[in-house]
Amino acid sequence: SEFREVQVVRSEIEVLPGRRTPILAYAVESGGKTFLNPALLARRGDEMRVRLINRIDQPTVIHWHGLSVDSRNDGNGLNVVPPGGRMDYAFPLRDRSSMYWYHPHAHGYIPQQAYHGLASLLFVEDDDEAALRKELDLALGETEIPLVLQDREFDAQGRLHYAPTAAQSFGGWVGERLLVNLTERPFLQAGRRIVRFRILNGSNARSYRLAFVQGGRRLGFFLAGTDGGLLAQPLRIDQTFISPGQRLDVLVDLREADPGRPVTLASLAFDPMHAEGGHDMAPAGPAAPSMAGMAGMDHSQHGAAPTAGPSIPMAMEGDARALMRIDLKPSAPYERRMPTVLSSLPAATIASASPPRRMQLGHNGRGNWTINGGLFDPKAAALSVQRGARETWLIENAERSMPHPMHLHGFSFRVIERLGSPALVRELAGARGLLPQDQGVMDTVHVWPGESVRIAIDFTHPHAGDQDYVFHCHSLEHAEAGMMLRYTVK
Ligand code: C2O
Ligand code: CU
Ligand code: CU
Repeated sequence: SEFREVQVVRSEIEVLPGRRTPILAYAVESGGKTFLNPALLARRGDEMRVRLINRIDQPTVIHWHGLSVDSRNDGNGLNVVPPGGRMDYAFPLRDRSSMYWYHPHAHGYIPQQAYHGLASLLFVEDDDEAALRKELDLALGETEIPLVLQDREFDAQGRLHYAPTAAQSFGGWVGERLLVNLTERPFLQAGRRIVRFRILNGSNARSYRLAFVQGGRRLGFFLAGTDGGLLAQPLRIDQTFISPGQRLDVLVDLREADPGRPVTLASLAFDPMHAEGGHDMAPAGPAAPSMAGMAGMDHSQHGAAPTAGPSIPMAMEGDARALMRIDLKPSAPYERRMPTVLSSLPAATIASASPPRRMQLGHNGRGNWTINGGLFDPKAAALSVQRGARETWLIENAERSMPHPMHLHGFSFRVIERLGSPALVRELAGARGLLPQDQGVMDTVHVWPGESVRIAIDFTHPHAGDQDYVFHCHSLEHAEAGMMLRYTVK
């Protein structure tokens, strides 16, 4: 079959009213039209055939976040596509139905290229997915809405501003303007029915504490799926964290809402736990403001108009913020009920009795976050794993640290246990310290300061020969500064 051409280009869009914002984008032609950052739709079992053509002046490569593919097709950055170059991807889609995503992965360019627009969605569908859409009468783009959450800074001309100081790299770049599908505070009209949201946190480093709020009250909703597809059954919750790289599949029954007022998708206030280590963690140098000092800043005056000139580190993760408004409109009668079963996902188990492999998250005191004390070496694998092995990893974050969304390439995993969680996690947790989100298939797990998170990974795969992947923090500035480890499956 044919290769679908995806060109990496420079383009312009209107994000802020009346201003042109230069961006980088994935451009795909279809039916005589060019689409920027199109969502790709595929069936489980289909063959993916994509030809990446690099039309910008920097190396780049596409990584298929969340898909289990061989190391070359993973696009992990160990090979990149030079300016003017191309690369063909061809692999079968073996993964469960879910909303995956694709983004750049050339080490040295990842945060800038992602921030400037290179990111989009890949939907994989299977029979469970089709059954759910049928049961709830859902249509993608109408009653099932993808939401990409990103935070950005703009200069007075409407250009994206990205120039992290050492301290901003260390904390992770956080933008003041919160965008949903590249729109600030969009609104949606929805009928009184079950609506599905497929949510990606595509921010470089910001996490969100999501809730649907109406008149100061949190509406209950259902978590239906996570990074790697549908849960076994929907879980009733009223809030959830989402960290960079993660996806959530959420069902909201708007028949439960008061029809007379809008519902807001919000990020609730939370302690982002950025300053756990105090001043001694911040990198040396005159450009490094104290993170503890930032916590006391007043942010209420920001957010209306773009600020002139380059930004200072004023945006704070963890501020209460509205993301999107949902207006309820009269609609045809809708009698569907929340399904009790979504998929046949088995409960997670630990397969082997052998001691876990430990992944210790810390920092080197010079502005770099580390894994097991080391920084990324693209030339050498830090560890190797036997193909077919079923391993337990214990990801241990230091007390004096900040949260790290740890992402594994090549294999999804299950979260088995959380130990030592801070209060804001414990409040939402159940048995074994697990969050509702931890019941799903994951490729990115948020590990809070002081936490130890036990995950189970099945390294079975069909690819011949040694395969190289990476394990890294999905706070892109952290990964860029070395919080990434290369591993080989033999
Ligand atoms: Cu979403 Cu290695 O990345
Ligand atoms: Cu990935
Ligand atoms: Cu990190």
